[in-house]
Amino acid sequence: MADNRRPENMERITTPQLAEAFINEQLAQLRAQIGDKKVLLALSGGVDSSVVAALLIKAVGRQLTCVHVNHGLLRKGEPEQVVEVFRNQMNANLVYVDAVDRFLDKLAGVAEPEAKRKIIGAEFIRVFEEEARKLDGIEFLAQGTIYPDILESGPVKAHHNVGGLPEDLQFELVEPLRLLFKDEVRVVGKALGLPDAMVFRQPFPGPGLGVRCLGAITRDRLEAVRESDAILREEFAKNGLAGKVWQYFTVVPDFKSTGVKNDLRSYDWPVIIRAVNTRDAMTATVEDVPFALLQHITQRITREVPGINRVLYDLTPKPTGTIEWE
Ligand code: XMP
Repeated sequence: MADNRRPENMERITTPQLAEAFINEQLAQLRAQIGDKKVLLALSGGVDSSVVAALLIKAVGRQLTCVHVNHGLLRKGEPEQVVEVFRNQMNANLVYVDAVDRFLDKLAGVAEPEAKRKIIGAEFIRVFEEEARKLDGIEFLAQGTIYPDILESGPVKAHHNVGGLPEDLQFELVEPLRLLFKDEVRVVGKALGLPDAMVFRQPFPGPGLGVRCLGAITRDRLEAVRESDAILREEFAKNGLAGKVWQYFTVVPDFKSTGVKNDLRSYDWPVIIRAVNTRDAMTATVEDVPFALLQHITQRITREVPGINRVLYDLTPKPTGTIEWE
């Protein structure tokens, strides 16, 4: 069993040189642990699993199989980016699973937030297990567990975004980032040549856009969340807010309001913008986004996103609001 305690004298990885040293040490350890055996990784495209993938590709190449499950709740362009970076650029052995219909069918009519989370987590494990069973001779399961996951979950079992991974599949775990903090994972990811858009992205919940399409998820509202989120991210990037604001996203509630579009009365959904700063996600303050930018984003969202006739800005700190709406 690998050591899950960060040594007190372990230097914080803050520079490319320290990242290189960590990477070289890990490559040797991974090669010694894995030998000529096969490894499996659930690759969401988030920072942690992407960095684990890049490390393992370097260490054992095509002995690694990455499984990317597209559950339909990812942000615009994310599944495509995973395929582009890992399959096309890094020559990884990548299994892309289009499970969109499967997830949306399971979620149909389910309005309660925790029930939605449970379905997404359970279905993820089921899809991943099915894919794992199709592969022969896998002995290792790699996970993007990082040190805060271990600190939070104690000695029992490191949990991660997707809500746990198969327990009845008999794999030995490979967790090369288990002693690192998030900022160190980013420095290592950058040193491994991953794109900034992957390494420096904002936190994104495991259930994804599923908890931002409020109530029972419908495909049209889910697309409205995805499209409005893409516009918000584009405008924040253009205006220097992307690296500055901790988390920013859009939410589409399940009610409509009256409006007017092209001289006709409309009855459509609103989009709510949320942009917050925090240290530890326990409390959060609202970003003071320039009013002119909010107006510009409002204009773009109401013009470009079908089914939306209003845009609201959430002024609520945490507490009393949580960061997510569900
Ligand atoms: P809240 O909404 O509780 O969010 O203020 C705090 C942070 O946690 C993220 N979050 C989640 N992350 N699975 C995750 O992996 C979840 O179910 C989940 N719910 C909230 C949220 O995005 C914020 O960064």
